[in-house]
Amino acid sequence: MPIHAYRTALVTGAASGIGAACTRMLRQNDLDVLALDRHGERLSAISTETGCDILQMDIRQTDQLYQELTARDFDIVINNAGLAHGLTEGFLGPAPEKVDEMIEVNVGAALHVLRAVLPSMKERNAGHIVEMGSIASQYPLGLPVYSASKGAIHSLSRSMRMELVGTRIRHTEILPGRTVTGFFENSFANDEERNAFISGHRMLGPEDIADAIQYALQSPPHVNVSMIELTPVDQIPGATNWS
Ligand SMILES: NC(=O)c1ccc[n+]([C@@H]2O[C@H](COP(=O)([O-])OP(=O)(O)OC[C@H]3O[C@@H](n4cnc5c(N)ncnc54)[C@H](OP(=O)(O)O)[C@@H]3O)[C@@H](O)[C@H]2O)c1
Repeated sequence: MPIHAYRTALVTGAASGIGAACTRMLRQNDLDVLALDRHGERLSAISTETGCDILQMDIRQTDQLYQELTARDFDIVINNAGLAHGLTEGFLGPAPEKVDEMIEVNVGAALHVLRAVLPSMKERNAGHIVEMGSIASQYPLGLPVYSASKGAIHSLSRSMRMELVGTRIRHTEILPGRTVTGFFENSFANDEERNAFISGHRMLGPEDIADAIQYALQSPPHVNVSMIELTPVDQIPGATNWS
């Protein structure tokens, strides 16, 4: 199915990394894209570059989220906004408010986005939802809180397939490994920790993830690509010290 059989798309976390790459990919395919993020300047830049529409907000503002999203019809939703704190600090490391932020954004907001866009998709009996999971939902990587949040997305994705059976709405979960984005900017206590964590290996680029999503979106209408796991060649979770 050509991707431009779809007309409209929502991308959350669209001002950086994987969300920005998805926005570019969708705009290159001539879709109308609403790019949601909390960073106004970065949103303006991606809008100038691609011609997407923008919605600057904190995705945890639930009332505003429903107000904005229920007023529109989306054919594609890339439920992507997410973050990690304290990647090398173990379970007890991140401060309580950082734990809350991970759960509120990675799980709570992702659920509310889905609940806001799904009624219109059901009414039109059409659409494609892409959930941004992580390999952290599948393998113990030493990031327990983040893994728990992405485990919730994995479980949600399995349930959504059941929820949507009998409709023409498709659902895809993407499980990336390490990808070069802004994600690793805020995830560590300092640069030294970050560099030790990510150095010496070639990581995925955000466009690799957007390519995988494009594959799922372009599949024939009777095909549902349920799950795609992508890692750098050097990353074999659980089998090396570069988890
Ligand atoms: N990069 C990886 O290795 C990797 C691997 C597996 C899965 N993922 C997942 O991929 C998704 C995209 O992450 P990325 O790697 O592209 O990271 P990124 O470059 O940091 O992009 C995420 C964007 O979402 C925004 N965001 C975070 N919280 C928000 C909020 N409350 N309201 C509105 N926007 C918010 C971020 O803003 P801030 O910069 O202010 O946080 C950022 O602009 C996430 O769900 C992440 O968990 C990433």
